[in-house]
Amino acid sequence: MKIALGSDHGGYALKLAIKEHLEKAGHQITDVGSHDANRAEYPFYGEKAARLVAAGECELGVLVCGTGCGISLSANRVRGIRCSNCSEPVTARLSREHNNCNMIALGGRIVGEQMALDIVDSFLNARFITGGRHEERVKMIEAIDRD
Ligand code: RB5
Repeated sequence: MKIALGSDHGGYALKLAIKEHLEKAGHQITDVGSHDANRAEYPFYGEKAARLVAAGECELGVLVCGTGCGISLSANRVRGIRCSNCSEPVTARLSREHNNCNMIALGGRIVGEQMALDIVDSFLNARFITGGRHEERVKMIEAIDRD
C-alpha cells in the first residue's frame, strides 16, 4: 500500500520507527518530512502529507507531532481528509471502521514505540464498514465540508 508519512521535530524519531516498520511490511512510503530533528512547523508537513492522500497518490497517511494534535488539525483542513489523533489501537481501528479515516496522527511525546506500531497496524488492518449508518454519518461530515 502507498502510505504518506509526515512529522515535525516532536514526531520525527517516532516517525522513523513507523517508517522502518511499514517498509519491512512491504508498504511503499512517501515521507514528506521533516527530515531531521530540528525545529519544523507541523502545519506544513501535515498539509503536505494530506494533499497526497486527498489527491489519491497515497491511499492512507500517518502523521506524528509532539501530541498528534497540531498535525491532525492541519491535515483535517484539507478537503477529503479525515484524520484522527490516536493514542491506542482501538480508536485507530474504529476510526477506520466507523469514520472512514484516511489518516491518523500520533503524539511522539505521548505514545511509546510499541504502542505506536500497534496503533498503525490496527489502522491499516481495519476496513470501513460500508452501506449503513456509519456511511451516512461520513457523508454528513462531507456535507459540512461543502458549506
Ligand atoms: C512542538 O513543540 C509541538 O507543539 C508540536 O509537535 C505538537 O505537539 C503540536 O500540536
